[in-house]
This record gives sequence, structure tokens and C-alpha cells, in this order.
Amino acid sequence: MGENKLRSRGWFGKSGKDGFIYRAWMKNQGYPADEFDGRPVIGICNTFSELTPCNGHFRELAESVKRGVWEAGGFPLEFPVMSLGETLIKPTAMLYRNLASMDVEESIRANPIDGVVLLCGCDKTTPSLVMGAASVDIPTIVVSGGPMLTGRYRGTNIGTSDVWRFSEMYRKGEISQEELTTAEACMCRSNGHCAVMGTASTMACMVESLGLTLPENAAIPAADSRRKVLAHLSGRRIVQMVNEDLRMSQILTKEAFENAIMLNAAIGGSTNFVIHLLAIAGRIGVDLSLDHFNDLCAKIPLLLNLQPSGGYFMEDFYYAGGLPVVIKEMISLLHKDVITVNGKTMAENSSTAECYNPEVIATLEEPVKNLTGLAVVRGNLCEHGAVIKPSASLNPALMKHRGRAVVFEDIDDYKHRLDDPDLDVDENCILVLKNVGPKGYPGMPEVGNMSLPKKILAKGIVDMIRISDGRMSGTGFGTVVLHVSPEAAVGGTLALVQDGDIIELDVENRKLNLEVSDEELNNRRAYWKPLDMGYSRGYVNLHINHVMQAHEGADLDFLRGGSGDKVTRDSH
Ligand code: FES
Ligand code: MG
Repeated sequence: MGENKLRSRGWFGKSGKDGFIYRAWMKNQGYPADEFDGRPVIGICNTFSELTPCNGHFRELAESVKRGVWEAGGFPLEFPVMSLGETLIKPTAMLYRNLASMDVEESIRANPIDGVVLLCGCDKTTPSLVMGAASVDIPTIVVSGGPMLTGRYRGTNIGTSDVWRFSEMYRKGEISQEELTTAEACMCRSNGHCAVMGTASTMACMVESLGLTLPENAAIPAADSRRKVLAHLSGRRIVQMVNEDLRMSQILTKEAFENAIMLNAAIGGSTNFVIHLLAIAGRIGVDLSLDHFNDLCAKIPLLLNLQPSGGYFMEDFYYAGGLPVVIKEMISLLHKDVITVNGKTMAENSSTAECYNPEVIATLEEPVKNLTGLAVVRGNLCEHGAVIKPSASLNPALMKHRGRAVVFEDIDDYKHRLDDPDLDVDENCILVLKNVGPKGYPGMPEVGNMSLPKKILAKGIVDMIRISDGRMSGTGFGTVVLHVSPEAAVGGTLALVQDGDIIELDVENRKLNLEVSDEELNNRRAYWKPLDMGYSRGYVNLHINHVMQAHEGADLDFLRGGSGDKVTRDSH
């Protein structure tokens, strides 16, 4: 592309008053005049925030990207966007994913940016940035922040999935608050995001699987110097991508999405992957539905032995060879000729990959588990589908099970009654939680892997079927049916379930049924009233009025698609 066609020329290439205004204030940062001579301007979209501890090292990471951009003859300009930290944001970071994506989209389009590097780490920071950038569609490369080093607690390896284990032990009185406090520091002992195959790692694998990153992006620990090297090389590469005019829409083809779905099954990625990938597809205009996940995942066994589905951590994954090894193993099943950001195909990028630890990365002949990574179930309880991660089940017998519903109307009801000694529940029952969906909570929090009642835990039972319209942390486990669509808050059948109803889950046949007659359901529906959400203004009100259901990616309806990179009017 001739340099005069760069979109940044619409700012820095102008003469007279406009050019003066666009350049003069930039010069207060100490840039020589020739930085504005028509070289590619590279935006570095930074989700650094001290409130997003997983991205707390991103100032340094951005510096590595800048080195590469300078070297390649580009002009790097870093800018902040809304950063979503999974652990602190109430009621759930998911409520703000779409808001952050709007910030990203408008920040890119409104500014003199020719190419953009997205710095992503904690769970929602990846989909929000990718969604926003996809709606602009300029050359884009993703650099993930990398996982934390494996936690070490009293001689054992720990990671985020242990939070759930520790908390059950604490509830049973097996460990003290003091021990818990010690474990906190042992688990999060370095920079980076969760070190298991939780949502952040799943997202880092997703962007590599989609071809949006340089090879090996997914697994290099945040604390490893090679993470900085990857950032540096990404800075060099984005300048070339601008010169080649290699845009996101050329990378994010239908085939790339299908690759990502198959690879996600093989790595045992988080169920949140489904929602985020659907939302990204909606932005870039690729037609994707839950059926694609079901069909493409059905033949893929689990190859990666990482928590929560297995035993190891992201650090081990990197040392074993990282995602390129999985891609190489799967290459006969994948679309091997799709192009990635480095201009090479998936097959080319993974051709020299070697597995250094078969305990961590298995083969198709001898997988870690034969259970599918993800399954989509349907039935009268979820006409538009629901999602389950069979590989995270602790009791495979529950994959086909009929049980009596024990119903909680909302999260408060659940918290009040769960440990009530009089709660009429046994391990064969099915726990049903309503009103934790995209609209109902609001924001679809990660509460779907509800803790079991104390009296059940006391019997040594570790798993029961749980059903909700919410999500589950990617670090969570159990036989948990999630993302029930339509959700209770919009009057889905889930809203009508009552204590004592019989529910049948049959994962093999992809079924979830409420054994209540249509006639009775219609009677109940006549008495159903929508919740008063109690939000009359602001973003949350906007979200409630426009959020789509889980099976459509829970994006806001008016954000689907994109508006491209054109801005027609000047600012003065
Ligand atoms: Fe940020 Fe897990 S809390 S990745
Ligand atoms: Mg999470």
C-alpha cells in the first residue's frame, strides 16, 4: 500500500489549520517532526490497570511492543481502554464486556491509527478487545499477557481451580482461615493471569487458534523473558501487516472459527469460549451457531492434561511445546491452509513443533480423555440450547441421569437456603438456579458451578447436576449445565421449573428435558411475571434492554457487525 493511503494521513498528513492541530499537540510529547512523515502509526491498546491484577505488567509489555514497532519503522502510540478484572468487578465483569468493546471500537476508529496491537490478559479483556477491533477491521495483532507461574503451596502445585477445592475444605472445617490466607499468596506469586486452562488461558489459545497472534502466544508465562520477545516481534510484525494491508477480516474467516472450536475442544477450554466466540463472529459477520460447536467438537478428544480437566498448569504447557504442538497433532482435522497474522498458514506455523512432554500434551491415538470438551444440549428446558463441559465432570455417571429438581429462584435464595439443614435434597437431585442469565443478574455471572449443600458434602459427595442460565468460571468443574437459553428473566421454561419436577439430562443424546406437560407449563406461564430489575438509567439499563441471549453470544443487539474504519469529519 502506498503510504499516502494510510488512514493516519487523514490526520498527520494534512496542511493548514487541521494538520497544525493534529500534530502540534502530539509534539508536546517530544516527537521529532519526521515521525509524522507518513510511517504507519501503530496503536497499542492497553488494558493495564492496577484493578486488573492479571494485566498489572502491561506497561512493560507495551514497551516491548514499542521496541519492535520503532525497529520496523512504525510510530507506536499507546492508549488505554476500559480494563475488566475478573476478581474485583461486581456484579460480574461480563456485564461490562460489551461496554469495553465499544470503548475499543470507538477509540481505534476515532484516532489516527493504521494498525493496532491488542494487549489482552484477564478473561474479558480478550473478547472485549477483539470484538471492538473486529468492528473496525484494520490490521490487528493480539499479544496476550501470559499466565502466572504455577502456584506452590506447602509442597504442592496449585492454581485457580484450587480456590473451589480450598473453599469446600474450609466449609467442611478441614482448613483454617489462616491456612487460606497463606494459600492466597502462594497461588498468585508472579505476574500473569490464571495459570490453569481457565477462561484467560482459553482466550489466549482462542486468539492463537484464530490466527490473530504469532505462534506460541498462548502459553509463554508472563514472567518468562520470551513473553517480551513475543511482544517485541509482534510490534515488528504489525508494521508489516499495515504495509501488506492484512486486515482482521482476512484472518477471521469461517474456517478460522471452525479451527478455534476444534482446538478449544482438544485443550479442554472454558465454556465461556462459546459465548465470546459467538460474539466475535457476530462482529466480523461470520455465521456461527451453537450447532457448529456440537458438530465440530463431537469428534475431538481431550489432548491437554491441564487443570481443571486434568492435572497440569500453563507453565507445563509451554515447556511441553505449547499450542503449536496441539495444532500439529490436530492438523489433519483442521483447515490447515488458513492464513494467520504472520502471513503463514496454520500448517506452516506448526510444522516444526515438537512435544517435549507427552504427559501434558497427548495424541489423538492416546488422548487424555475421550469425553468431548463441550456439548450442547437441547430440550424443552432450553429450546435454544445449553452448554456442558463433560471433561470437567467429577462423576461421569451423571452424564445420563434423571432427578428431582431443587429450585432456587435467584442467587440470594440459593445463598440463604443452600446450607439449611431442612433443605429437601439428596445427591440424586438436580440443583436449578434461575435468574443468573445475561439479563437476569444482570450480566450472566460465573455462579453456575454452585457449591453443593453442606449436608451432601458431608457424605463425601463431590458432584451433582447443576442447571442454570449463568456461566461458570473456566477454572470450575463438575456436572454443570450452563447458558440455558432462553433465560429465566425473559420467560424461558427455566423460569417455570418447580421443586419436585423431574428433569432428565442425557449428554450422549444431547438432551435436557423437563418432564412436565405442555399443558401444565402453559398454566404456570400464565402466572409468570418478569422481574423488576430496578435499573432505570445508565449503562446497566442499556444492557438489560439490548443484551441478546447466551446462544447468540450475549452481545448488545446494536453492536453486531461493524462500521469499518472510516471517519469523515475533522474535529475543528
Ligand atoms: Fe484474571 Fe483469572 S482472574 S485471569
Ligand atoms: Mg472468570
